[in-house]
Amino acid sequence: MEKVFPKHDLRPPPGAAADWTIPQDWRSYTAGEHAVWDRLFTRQSAMLRDRASPAFLRGLDVLRMSKPGIPDFEELSERLAGLTGWRVAAVPGLVPDDVFFRHLANRTFVAGRFIRRPDQLDYLQEPDVFHDVFGHVPLLADPVFADYMQAYGEGGLRSQSFDALHRLARLYWYTVEFGLVRYGGALKLYGAGIVSSHGESVFALDDPSPNRIGFDLRRIMRTQYRIDDFQQTYFVVDSFQELLSRTLETDFAPLYRELAQSSDLPPDAVLETDLVIHGGDQTYAKSKAAP
Ligand code: PHE
Ligand code: FE
Repeated sequence: MEKVFPKHDLRPPPGAAADWTIPQDWRSYTAGEHAVWDRLFTRQSAMLRDRASPAFLRGLDVLRMSKPGIPDFEELSERLAGLTGWRVAAVPGLVPDDVFFRHLANRTFVAGRFIRRPDQLDYLQEPDVFHDVFGHVPLLADPVFADYMQAYGEGGLRSQSFDALHRLARLYWYTVEFGLVRYGGALKLYGAGIVSSHGESVFALDDPSPNRIGFDLRRIMRTQYRIDDFQQTYFVVDSFQELLSRTLETDFAPLYRELAQSSDLPPDAVLETDLVIHGGDQTYAKSKAAP
């Protein structure tokens, strides 16, 4: 749900409701589709055991996500609603930003229902049900992260009147999609884009190439990101409580106004004012850039 759509004149496709949701139609998944989920699930849950944040792992557990097959959104929503009041609803693909924000503000996470093909296990540009559900849903069982996602939706709706949607998109990108969190002196993964990716689960924590920098709201809102490859910089929060407090207690309006006067930063920038946890050597990005 990262794409920025034109603001107006987008209607839900035929068969979708006014809020863009569609039935998941869980019964129509084939055995082959369930098998793709199972392969991805087995591989990622083993990989993440000592890499993901404890909150993510707890979410997998309390939501019983190890149950074989693509999760049934109704069943998943019942469990999740009992814990934090969140629900999961299917959508046909990417939805317009205001639709996405409104769902978040109402504690509904919209997810793709389709699953990648067996030859796409490692990389897929569009978010499928594995990215959306395995990647995003476990943290919605965490009460603090659940509140952050709702606040983000409300903030997203508000940002539209400041023409600052791209600022909020960057915040989403560098937290919800690609965030790291400190835990007991180590760094752990929580971003959905990382935990749903086999390669990036290793790269984000272990590789010397990317920067790892302490969370800074203003800094993140100035930073461009890459959608086509591993990130060049990851931002690290001390806790989800820090993430929630900082974003909730800051009025973004003056920030948007101030940032309109300052330049954007490239994805690999390191500033004097950054809290650098690891200064990346960018060897990976450079190797890709070479002709
Ligand atoms: N405090 C933000 C604002 O004034 C709203 C927000 C909260 C945005 C949490 C993102 C996350 O707009
Ligand atoms: Fe995502």
